[in-house]
Amino acid sequence: MNDMKMETLVALCKRRGIIFPGSDLYGGLGGTFDFGPIGVELKNNVKKAWWRSVVYERDDMEGLDAAILMHPRTWEASGHVEGFTDPLVDCKSCKKRFRADHVEEKDFQAFKILVPESEDQWKDSGQTLYADSKKSAKALVSALPVTFPQGAHIRVEPVEGQVFHGKRCPECGGELTDPRMFNLMLKTYVGPVEEDAAVVYLRPETAQGIFVNFSNIMDTMRRKIPFGIAQIGKSFRNEITPRNFIFRTREFEQMEIEFFCKPGTDKEWFEYWVNERFNWYIRFGIRRENLRLRPHEKDELAHYALACKDVEYNFPIGWSELEGIANRTSFDLTQHQKFSGKDLTYFDEETRERYIPYVIEPSGGVDRATLAFLADAYREETVLDRERRVLALHPFLAPVKAAVFPLLKNRPELVEIAKKLTADLKKEFYTVYDDTAAIGKLYRRQDEIGTPFCMTVDVDTLTDQSVTIRDRDTMQQERLPIERVADRLHEKLRLN
Ligand code: GAP
Repeated sequence: MNDMKMETLVALCKRRGIIFPGSDLYGGLGGTFDFGPIGVELKNNVKKAWWRSVVYERDDMEGLDAAILMHPRTWEASGHVEGFTDPLVDCKSCKKRFRADHVEEKDFQAFKILVPESEDQWKDSGQTLYADSKKSAKALVSALPVTFPQGAHIRVEPVEGQVFHGKRCPECGGELTDPRMFNLMLKTYVGPVEEDAAVVYLRPETAQGIFVNFSNIMDTMRRKIPFGIAQIGKSFRNEITPRNFIFRTREFEQMEIEFFCKPGTDKEWFEYWVNERFNWYIRFGIRRENLRLRPHEKDELAHYALACKDVEYNFPIGWSELEGIANRTSFDLTQHQKFSGKDLTYFDEETRERYIPYVIEPSGGVDRATLAFLADAYREETVLDRERRVLALHPFLAPVKAAVFPLLKNRPELVEIAKKLTADLKKEFYTVYDDTAAIGKLYRRQDEIGTPFCMTVDVDTLTDQSVTIRDRDTMQQERLPIERVADRLHEKLRLN
């Protein structure tokens, strides 16, 4: 497991305007988060890095931005209405709901709860609870939906012979219902009436928007197989247990590619995309040792997949999925052809063959990638005898590229030069001006949000027309003529 704690990252994100709990003012809305002024830049840069790699730098890809609301038949064809479900259990006692596969099966002992009758007499309260130890039985008492006399000292005693193996409510030890299937798609209504005919879903994946546009794009862009379509956009899932900060939320963004290829070439393309996507994370700064590939076992494959490999990252919560690359075969296009009645076959002019293309799908989460980039970049270190916290983000991802400070804010001529330099740099890079604290503090602020370069205008600037430019990672300072600052930033920020 990554050494850093998720709480450290959550605190940094809140302190520095990166990520806030959703609807914070009203006490939060479970499974939602808001990206603040610094976070929105980071997230936009993650999306730009992806789009650049998979669309601009290639000649076999097209981009798309399909609507979130889609015709309800889409989700029948894709199998989501029928199969996008989790087994859920409800606690009969505290009424909380859990994913059946998240509740641990273990040995339980029955405990009776005793309350004081007189100073040294205890009486049975009539309540029984099930727990795996006396300690957890005591802890569960407070969660029971009954109240004992205020300040009462409660005792729990095992009931001899009442032991069983199974599942009980993890919150209060109560009995659970049998598992029931629960669809994860969020519903809403289109039009003025709330009736069944008007039900639409908030898309649970962006992929289907690509499949339904396959012919539109192939025809208008005169594409031949193999080619791919890339899309970034919001997806929604009514996750039962959203958790671990932005790792699993109810509203999130996906970056998905559907790559259409000839059946028979799919295995090769699958391995190709696994490799491409794994290396993308390294290219943008994730340390190799924090990434690994995990092939899916046959019994965990989605209904549409012939094969799948996850790119996993060593998150603070342990190794977990960052992105999945799946061989979806011709499943989706075949289904949409069936449900829409439209021909989705491809005619290969050269071989005179007609077929439904196979699809390789690299599907990643923007929020999850952002979390991995943040976790990997966070360092607590001592450099030049000074302790600091720094986000060593790849410069392409850094929310703010440069910060400019006047050494003395009460010298208007320094302030003027610093503000002019900021305005000039802003035309090309996201640059900020700051004079609200002493220089040391200003550096620390920028280090914590990962700004690669800080420039200081001092009294010497008035004579040598130069500024001090400080590198975030080495903390080395260099003197540079103002007129060369933009070129230097270009050099340092150029993407290889
Ligand atoms: N089209 C295939 C698909 O949606 P998935 O494995 O369900 O596959 C792909 O999702 C990626 O989307 C995941 O690897 C993850 O990065 C992201 N993702 C899925 N559910 C998420 C959630 N509830 N919160 C944040 N990211 C999520």
